[in-house]
Amino acid sequence: MTKFVAVVSAKGGVGKTSTTINVSSALEWFRRDVIAMDANFANPDIGIHLGAELMDKTIHSALRGMHHIRESIYLHPSGIKIIPGSISYDEARKVKRDNLGNIILDLVGSAEIVIVDSTPGLGEDATSVIKAVDYVLIVTTPDLCSVSNSIKMVNLAREFGKMILGIVVNRVEGHEYELDLDNIEMLLGNRVVAVIPEDKNIKDSFHKKNPVVFIHPKSPSSDAFKRLASELIGERYVKLAKKEEDSFYTLAKRAVGLGR
Ligand SMILES: Nc1ncnc2c1ncn2[C@@H]1O[C@H](COP(=O)(O)OP(=O)(O)OP(=O)(O)O)[C@@H](O)[C@H]1O
Ligand SMILES: [Mg+2]
Repeated sequence: MTKFVAVVSAKGGVGKTSTTINVSSALEWFRRDVIAMDANFANPDIGIHLGAELMDKTIHSALRGMHHIRESIYLHPSGIKIIPGSISYDEARKVKRDNLGNIILDLVGSAEIVIVDSTPGLGEDATSVIKAVDYVLIVTTPDLCSVSNSIKMVNLAREFGKMILGIVVNRVEGHEYELDLDNIEMLLGNRVVAVIPEDKNIKDSFHKKNPVVFIHPKSPSSDAFKRLASELIGERYVKLAKKEEDSFYTLAKRAVGLGR
């Protein structure tokens, strides 16, 4: 049975799309069949980050009934399957978000896990995603604004009876002014399931139109995304020895024409 996991946040820009793309790539690293789906209807960034922003068949056109949602599944060279959104203003304005539940039903059986990126906030776009999925991951940064806004997201998920898999704390630098994990867990009443460090490799990976997990597999954030993926599938994650990791990725990158 396909698991649908929404990646949500109350505040914008905290790292939902980075998490969606990279936890998908990490799940692929664990050999899981995964789709990263863009349900941030206003500002779909998965395609932009992965060089697939001009695809004909998007979640928007599927929601309008133009084609089956499975026709919007594209295989990215890094190995993950993606469902991009349309970057058109018109498509964003006339999005048929109420059809999302049907789209999700149509995807059952097309992957083991579908990670669903979403619009920030508590508005109709975000609510339609939460209503349509089974599980929710809440992304926050370790500051009071983001964490206190996330309390509302916890309430929204609870209102619709969704299971919160946990809190992803992103852009952690370890400064004393950051909220510590115990406080975040206490304020949100949920477990922190991932701590993603501030990592310039994330920006570099998007510049190179790839997940950081694929293009910078030894970076600190890649390690954290693999740990998060291991949490989602209940599998133990043991960091590979440098030599094993090197050979795995050298082969994978060669296969898609990156590196020698
Ligand atoms: N751990 C990190 N280290 C460094 N940069 C990061 C990290 N996480 C995210 N970023 C950068 O922050 C920016 C915003 O991240 P992202 O697009 O994932 O946020 P978002 O929550 O999806 O935003 P929106 O609410 O607009 O959809 C991106 O440019 C990304 O490269
Ligand atoms: Mg985003």
